[in-house]
Amino acid sequence: MAVATLSSRSRRACAEAASVLLVLLVIAPSVAAGGDTNGVYEPCADAAVQRGDGFTFGVAFAARGDFFSGGVQLSPCDGRLSLASKGAKLAVFRPEVDEISLLTVNTSAAGGFDPATSGGYMVAFAGRKYAARSPPVFVSNSSYTVTSFTLVFEFNKGTLQNLYWKANGCSACSGQPSFTCVDQSCAISTANCTGKGGSVDCSPGIQLAFSGTDKHEAVLNSWYEVSKLRQYSLVGLFSNLKDSLTSQFSIFF
Ligand SMILES: *[C@@H]1O[C@H](CO)[C@@H](O)[C@H](O)[C@H]1NC(C)=O
Ligand SMILES: *[C@@H]1O[C@H](CO)[C@@H](O)[C@H](O)[C@H]1NC(C)=O
Ligand SMILES: *[C@@H]1O[C@H](CO)[C@@H](O)[C@H](O)[C@H]1NC(C)=O
Repeated sequence: MAVATLSSRSRRACAEAASVLLVLLVIAPSVAAGGDTNGVYEPCADAAVQRGDGFTFGVAFAARGDFFSGGVQLSPCDGRLSLASKGAKLAVFRPEVDEISLLTVNTSAAGGFDPATSGGYMVAFAGRKYAARSPPVFVSNSSYTVTSFTLVFEFNKGTLQNLYWKANGCSACSGQPSFTCVDQSCAISTANCTGKGGSVDCSPGIQLAFSGTDKHEAVLNSWYEVSKLRQYSLVGLFSNLKDSLTSQFSIFF
């Protein structure tokens, strides 16, 4: 279990990025022996990691256009975006490198965080010099909410080079009346979500996959394990996930 607490340095680094740190739940299957040798706890700083280290990254929620300046997508760490003044929200996670992890941002609590109100899109990011950022991905608007995401980290010699969302496809929800295919992902009607008149916990779940090499050039391969596991039920590994989320996820795997 590794939940990043922003240090004061990191607060400064991210002050431009977002105003609120969300309540986070990080579920990791095990803590590897050997421990965490990565002393970088800030999402807006560069780190070189090895397998088993913690790795801090951020997820910013805002409108799609808020992630661009002059037609170029900048890192949420870049002050030119002024995300905080646009009402963006920030979540910070510290999963273990090359461990299969499922992260969630709890949106089901009454009066809690609502991704649609924050603009409906999210970008994952880490680093300053390399400033890796994923493309913006649709999460929620008043019509639809996507609840299941796969985020791929590509490292080269332990430095994050690239972050991207892997669309889960819509075969799992085809023919199900409460679901629609949005950008190659299953989206549930927002009206079905708790807090919107429905009963489904629509908290977004983010499954992580690692690829490339660590700083000792050891190959990261949790991506391979995830693709192998997807045909069964990854969620079964995370028995401490709340029932509503688990049963919702079981639709997708
Ligand atoms: C989110 O928080 C609510 C209220 O505290 C709780 O009932 C729900 O189970 C939580 N969901 C997840 C996925 O942790
Ligand atoms: C919600 O998003 C979907 C998919 O991008 C889009 O087709 C739809 O028009 C949007 N609805 C609203 C009310 O913005
Ligand atoms: C979504 O809402 C509709 C209308 O209230 C309901 O018929 C349907 O069963 C709900 N779907 C889920 C998955 O809760």
